[in-house]
Amino acid sequence: MKLAQTVFKQRRDQLAQAMGPNSVAIIATSPVAMRNRDADYKYRADSSFYYLTGFAEPEAVAVIETGNDPDDYLYSLFCRERDREMEIWNGYRAGIDGAIDDYDADEAYAIDLLDEEILSKITHCEALYYRIAENVEFDARVTGWLAKLQQGRQFKLPTQLKPLDAIVDEMRLFKTAAEIELMQTAADISAQAHTRAMQSVRPGMMEYALEAELNYIFGQHGCVPAYGSIVGGGANACILHYVENDQELKEGDLVLIDAGCEYQYYAGDISRTFPVNGRFSPQQKALYQVVLDAQLAAIEQIHVGVSYKQPHYAAVRVLVTGLVALGLLQGDVDELINTEAYHRFYMHGTGHWLGIDVHDVGEYQVDAAPRPFEAGMVITVEPGLYIAPDDQTVDEQWRGIGIRIEDDVLVTAQGPHVLTAKVVKTIEDIEQLMANARLSS
Ligand code: GLY
Ligand code: MN
Ligand code: MN
Repeated sequence: MKLAQTVFKQRRDQLAQAMGPNSVAIIATSPVAMRNRDADYKYRADSSFYYLTGFAEPEAVAVIETGNDPDDYLYSLFCRERDREMEIWNGYRAGIDGAIDDYDADEAYAIDLLDEEILSKITHCEALYYRIAENVEFDARVTGWLAKLQQGRQFKLPTQLKPLDAIVDEMRLFKTAAEIELMQTAADISAQAHTRAMQSVRPGMMEYALEAELNYIFGQHGCVPAYGSIVGGGANACILHYVENDQELKEGDLVLIDAGCEYQYYAGDISRTFPVNGRFSPQQKALYQVVLDAQLAAIEQIHVGVSYKQPHYAAVRVLVTGLVALGLLQGDVDELINTEAYHRFYMHGTGHWLGIDVHDVGEYQVDAAPRPFEAGMVITVEPGLYIAPDDQTVDEQWRGIGIRIEDDVLVTAQGPHVLTAKVVKTIEDIEQLMANARLSS
């Protein structure tokens, strides 16, 4: 399901209202990124640009001018012109007519005319909204336009320069029903991919071969990975951003997978950790249960009005209590929390906003305090424990075990709603799923 053009229009309406009268917003999409000679990375539009336009082609800039009445703003889209030859080589373009007819632009121009047309749009405005410091080359272009206004006698500089992020990021933080539907689909496909990975893993398999099982499900749904998938067997799971995925999965080891798909521009973000041979060892079981208990305790905290930090605090308490019980930490739980003695085994936060970006936009602090949850926010909950393979301070039996369990949670007035509940996570359910898969293969 694709979002209707009316959704993107509503977002522009909301942006124009928030900008106020006599303001202009400039929103550029991402540049094409080169992989190597004559080979580009698959193009992905800038998240905020797409959020406001639904336009996925490269080389495009949207301009919103509110004039005296923000309800009656002007939306201009600068984009590539249609070009028969270029389209034969590189594919279809909406062109100027398409920008107006299919993307609801009031005016559309060839992207080559941007430098020429923009000056009259931004001169005399009271506030110019722009996302500074995301694209250095485009920043230089904007500065160049301002310099021209400064020098030109017929022009006048905008009175204020304002960060577009303050408005758009706040809008993106709160998901509408239509967005939640897309995120549920992204979560379902991601869950299906993790389920397939649990069913297909075997000792001796390469990590990249297991990654291919995830990609098979993503690809079957027209999705791409929302970020570089992590498939780490054994001690590789202790490397937080392990993406090489080029080692053999060994009998007796766990494998940690952190992977999610991007569906219609919305990300899923799931981590699961399971035994390569289908059965947890006693040590793996003990540590896994601590992480799972921490994750469940963290999810419990997700209620409207509760600080976004609360899940982290809840997770840390359960993790530290568990580490003490297993003899990996010694001392008083409160003291170990206060001195962050657990940091050696748990060195990252417990969650982040999720949406069009996997690490989505939106402030975490409001009035210098951690922000309280509100309905419509989506946050990940991803505690873990990582016992370094060379950590001489712990008994050998624990070394080289890395575990993370991550789900995506929608904040609702009724409490936490786990979008990624379709992939199992208890020890019993994982072993059962893996045993069934082995029986039937
Ligand atoms: N996969 C990135 C993260 O979990 O934050
Ligand atoms: Mn995450
Ligand atoms: Mn993740």
